[in-house]
Amino acid sequence: MATATRYMLAEGLGVRPPLKWAGGKRWLVPHLQKIWKKHSQRRLVEPFCGGLAVALGLLPEEALLNDINPHAINFYLWLKKGLKVRLSMRNDEESFYECRARFNELNSKGKSTSREAAELFYYLNRTGYNGLCRFNKKGEFNVPFGRYKTINYDQFTDEFKHYRSVFANWQFSVSDFQSVPVQDDDFIYADPPYDVEFTQYSKEGFGWDDQVRLAQWLAEHSGPVVLSNQATARVVKLYKSLGFKTKILDAPRLISCTGDRASAREVLAVKGV
Ligand SMILES: C[S@@+](CC[C@H](N)C(=O)[O-])C[C@H]1O[C@@H](n2cnc3c(N)ncnc32)[C@H](O)[C@@H]1O
Repeated sequence: MATATRYMLAEGLGVRPPLKWAGGKRWLVPHLQKIWKKHSQRRLVEPFCGGLAVALGLLPEEALLNDINPHAINFYLWLKKGLKVRLSMRNDEESFYECRARFNELNSKGKSTSREAAELFYYLNRTGYNGLCRFNKKGEFNVPFGRYKTINYDQFTDEFKHYRSVFANWQFSVSDFQSVPVQDDDFIYADPPYDVEFTQYSKEGFGWDDQVRLAQWLAEHSGPVVLSNQATARVVKLYKSLGFKTKILDAPRLISCTGDRASAREVLAVKGV
């Protein structure tokens, strides 16, 4: 392993992800490492790679990492080219809204894959509320200022140079999961948006029909597959009906907006592992 990679290795959990990401699965890495160990010579395919917590936790030699979010993928592609952030990043409300407006301007002018858009995306992710990535109906990024007391941007950007070697044999793509060109012996780890029970269409636009479409697509893969999702009764039933083995885990507890600690149960559905 390259020195650069070792430098960023956190105790047992791989390399620190560069972005904050809703639904990040760093906590699942120890469970996935046990399954991955037997398959580590394979290519890792993540159709929903999000914040990369899993790829950076398992550190495969080769990977195909896809997400429908073009801004995250653009940022990773620039990191792979050795991005250095030139923007002067300031944790204040005025700069945040100026940068947000500039990011939206670049996107509306067809410059969403530019280096400047990648730098701004990083800054907005660190400085905005909860690292959220939300857009309004007009397609404008509309996450508000995060109001964090301190943000140590340098701590992270110092590490950017190391991602270059970690990403060297990793490919990135932006598409719906079903268009990801998997090969028969790939190891697929799929982490879709959570199923929200009793709803047909979710806020993120990933509804029950998409959950079923995903399960059928995964069932057709001849190599090893691991799926994680919220352990709703219908998700567990769906994967069992397609021949997957399921295991229920306690996910870190989420604090809801009313302050209740909602219990969260995660299902791992596996086949061919
Ligand atoms: C739960 S998150 C994945 C988190 C990731 N495992 C991590 O640890 O950071 C789900 C991801 O699915 C992506 N997504 C939503 N719909 C999609 C689709 N149809 N095809 C591919 N990706 C999609 C979202 O952009 C989001 O990043």
